[in-house]
Amino acid sequence: MRPRGARLQWQRPKAKCVEVAGKKIALFNLEGSFYAIDDTCTHRGGPLSEGEVSGEEVTCPWHGAVYNIKTGAVLGPPAPRGVASYPVRVQGADVEVEV
Ligand code: FES
Repeated sequence: MRPRGARLQWQRPKAKCVEVAGKKIALFNLEGSFYAIDDTCTHRGGPLSEGEVSGEEVTCPWHGAVYNIKTGAVLGPPAPRGVASYPVRVQGADVEVEV
């Protein structure tokens, strides 16, 4: 599928929620490298883009599940499984997320 773009220019915060092809995607900027995972926590739907970021991990703001930002893997409960991750490509000022 052709990448869908989101025109973004930001330094802080480290994460934003963007909608791509009808999906809510959490985009993270880790020291200038971008990563995209589903924004919706698999526990009760908390917004991962609003979670606390520490290194490569984000903590769901609702009940504390921990996810790997690069892979979407769940690292800590109560989330039952990870979330999808998506390829990201930076083209000038555009950040393209392939869904
Ligand atoms: S909704 Fe994310 S841990 Fe409960």
